[in-house]
Amino acid sequence: MGVGPARSTGLAPAKAILVGEHFVVSGATAIAIAINLYAKASASLAPRGSISISAQGFGMHGEGAGALRASGSEAGPFGPLISMTKAFLERYGIDQGVDIRLSSEIPLSAGLGSSAAIAVSILAALSSLFGIRLGREEMFDLAFVSERILHGSPSGIDHATSIYGGAIAYSPSGGFRRLSVDREISLVIGDTLRRRSTREQVLKVQDFLKRNPEIAREAFERIRGISEGAIFCLEGGDMEGLGKLMNENQYLLSKVGASSEELDRLIEASLKAGAFGAKLTGAGGGGCMIALGPPEALGAIEESIRRAGAIPYRVRMDSVGFRAG
Ligand code: PMV
Repeated sequence: MGVGPARSTGLAPAKAILVGEHFVVSGATAIAIAINLYAKASASLAPRGSISISAQGFGMHGEGAGALRASGSEAGPFGPLISMTKAFLERYGIDQGVDIRLSSEIPLSAGLGSSAAIAVSILAALSSLFGIRLGREEMFDLAFVSERILHGSPSGIDHATSIYGGAIAYSPSGGFRRLSVDREISLVIGDTLRRRSTREQVLKVQDFLKRNPEIAREAFERIRGISEGAIFCLEGGDMEGLGKLMNENQYLLSKVGASSEELDRLIEASLKAGAFGAKLTGAGGGGCMIALGPPEALGAIEESIRRAGAIPYRVRMDSVGFRAG
């Protein structure tokens, strides 16, 4: 452990799941890319025993949280992040307090992995502050501390993607694999601004699958082909093929109750505007959808999402993952 700067910063990207959400909870392979919307943390030394976290603003569209502040207590709004910070300090035997300030442009509770990116940005800032070279596996374990408290039993794909950057394939039995994608990927995200709980959405879909074993069996068979096909398309640069698989995946997500009328409307509008494929991303039921299209159609897709009453963000893949400084 060396001595770091007086105030250090960490930056971590959001993620978008391209295929496989929900089904990954029961064993399927999901594929996500890191995207260029970021959470930022800055950390400085504080008196021994004192951990304080404050937010200067979350999201780009009115979620606010400008006044959100928590000090030390694991029962407060930043409790999971405070638990994670304590786990970091304990793991490295640091007998020192910290003051953490957060800001993030990632919409909250919208399917883009904002909580995971915030956790990763804090770990990046802390590692720089204390001069610790934090390996990616160690960072993954530590970020799980807050993600588990927040989401129950998350698959881990959110913070793995934020840490590693690029495109990640994940299954509960096979773990994570970074895909080799050497072309730029641009997406249009449509944010319904309807916030929902990942935990509740996961319970709802798992319940549906349990009550409808025939639909579940068929869906899992199809999702296996979709995920395998998506890896092939991503690594081979076939964006049109990937778009078709996203459409097939959306059909299945709709069938198991993960979509919503609003998401369906944005998806239809994007396809009409020239998208290769469009689907909900993350837990669904609100939150965000994504559309993949040829570069020349992205402007029209953004406009169609805006006209359908949602907020479009044009994003591209972040290949770097977290940064510390
Ligand atoms: O909505 P998000 O960003 O929390 O993504 C949830 C993805 C799920 O597959 C539904 C759950 C998980 O833990 O993988």
